[in-house]
Amino acid sequence: MNSIMEFMRQDHARLDGIFAEFGGVDVQSVKARELFSAYKNGLERHIAWEEEILFPVFEEKTGNRDSGPTAVMRMEHREIKVLLERLYLRVENGDIEIKPIQERLGDVLAEHNQKEESVLYPWFDQSLSETEKQALLDKIKSSTAAP
Ligand SMILES: [Fe+2]
Ligand SMILES: [Fe+2]
Repeated sequence: MNSIMEFMRQDHARLDGIFAEFGGVDVQSVKARELFSAYKNGLERHIAWEEEILFPVFEEKTGNRDSGPTAVMRMEHREIKVLLERLYLRVENGDIEIKPIQERLGDVLAEHNQKEESVLYPWFDQSLSETEKQALLDKIKSSTAAP
């Protein structure tokens, strides 16, 4: 059985893993820069999958576009991207003062992912046919929507 929840939850977990690994290395090391860029690229791609492939289906089928959960998720994505960009600049500059941004990003994402996993992703699994879910997963897997 196809599951949007399984696929997207696994990507949350994969990204959380990279973020945690990043938190454990010397922030001024090459390894830190490598991990952070893998993290940033992966998270931006994940957000693009949601905003460009998944959310439009929810919005189309429910007619809930401007005031529903996807509107809230899109707003949170904007904050996440700002934090990612700020952190990226600091890591690239070898700045060691990253803790507050790192913690804020971790907190915002934990809450954000929790909402997606408890409200939004289950909607896809419950409301779409196997064929529709398969089509979305194919689209996601072949997507080059983000870096
Ligand atoms: Fe999201
Ligand atoms: Fe997500």
